[in-house]
Amino acid sequence: MKVLLIGNGAREHAIAEKLDDCELYSIMSKKNPAIAQLSKEYWICDIENADIVAKTIAGHEFDLGFSSPDATLAAGISDVLGGCGILVASPSRAASRIEWDKSYMRTLLQKYGIKGSPKFEVVKSPADALRLMKEYDQVAIKPLGLTGGKGVKVSGEHFTQTDDGLKYAETLITKDGTALIEEKLVGEEFTLQAFCDGTRIGVMPPIQDHKRAFVGDKGSNTGGMGSYSTGPLLPFLEHSDIESGKKILQGVVSALKKEGTPFHGILYGQFMATAHGIKIVEFNARFGDPEAINALSLLNDSLGNILLSMAEGQLHQPSFSNDSTVVKYLVPQGYPDKPIADSPVTIDSAAIEESGAKIYYASVYDKGGKIMTTSSRSFAILSKATTLEEAEDKAEKGCSLIHGALWHREDIGTNSLVEKRIERMKSLRGQK
Ligand code: AMP
Ligand code: GLY
Repeated sequence: MKVLLIGNGAREHAIAEKLDDCELYSIMSKKNPAIAQLSKEYWICDIENADIVAKTIAGHEFDLGFSSPDATLAAGISDVLGGCGILVASPSRAASRIEWDKSYMRTLLQKYGIKGSPKFEVVKSPADALRLMKEYDQVAIKPLGLTGGKGVKVSGEHFTQTDDGLKYAETLITKDGTALIEEKLVGEEFTLQAFCDGTRIGVMPPIQDHKRAFVGDKGSNTGGMGSYSTGPLLPFLEHSDIESGKKILQGVVSALKKEGTPFHGILYGQFMATAHGIKIVEFNARFGDPEAINALSLLNDSLGNILLSMAEGQLHQPSFSNDSTVVKYLVPQGYPDKPIADSPVTIDSAAIEESGAKIYYASVYDKGGKIMTTSSRSFAILSKATTLEEAEDKAEKGCSLIHGALWHREDIGTNSLVEKRIERMKSLRGQK
């Protein structure tokens, strides 16, 4: 099967690797040396420009297309692939609106009676923003569109004074004309992703990402510093939490079908387990990064076959290993505030392979045979084992075999951090 993959991060490197029973072609905005190596042919162009992508693939034939990053979906790249007669396993621009328009997302949940939204309102004036900040007391303030997870400011986390929150809402209103004000959700976040064929869903194991930059969940939000999974359940969750999450994901897929915009692709639910049940923070219309790396390492089936079955509306239910996984992102020194770019990195590939960890290339480039950093995340290190402790240990070994001006969060996947989450959830559930 000739598969065209669009995207060039560590997530896409993991997807490309898992398509090893297919003939891979790729389109990237910047050359990812690892994806390039796995591809029979690749093209570099602006992957967020539908016309340019259409011109790039003109005259070529593929059996299946998969566009991965959020901005490509919002730019209608899946529609372009479909227009070229290719079967497509990623959502149309209309279906991916669930991610790129948070007001649409909340309104859709309301319309179809899907539970899990906090109180919210889209405001157009600072006076309305202030009214809601008083009414909800603790809030999350966000733009409606895509921000790579970095556009949200939450009371008590990113600001403490009403004035500072109000200033942020004003900035958004000046820029976009609107701001979304939501009641603050308190609890533990987790990710549930599903393969969707327009009607049915095939859910992947739950995963916990770490958005904050520094050890102990301090610092600003990033694209994600790492993630872990522990089989069909995370240690701070109950089975009923997963069932609630599945019900919400299925509800969205059924709602989008009724809206005439069926969702073929990966639906990603960012959930918060709270004292009052499972709440939905946001949806993504794509694999999570890093969560794709955890989930794909556990997938027992051919990713190519599952993607094809999604595109054809005949989902093959996926099956997963129950192992634990840890992903840690190696990022440039100074990341996220003042990252040092263009710095050389050496990778001890043989030793990494021996350690059992795996390396996925994120934002690095090749200069005369040397791998160089950029200002974004550099590599994701994955490890898998029967226990989380073992997986975390292996991931740390993997990180130690990459040399350069890089750092990573050493606490991700450690027992001490997971214990804190368990205790926090126990205490929240006890407050009911
Ligand atoms: P989003 O871009 O909507 O995924 O938000 C990024 C991060 O902001 C989430 O992962 C949460 O940590 C936080 N966040 C967003 N909305 C809320 C909310 N209503 N309450 C608490 N935290 C939130
Ligand atoms: N891990 C967060 C995201 O992919 O949006």
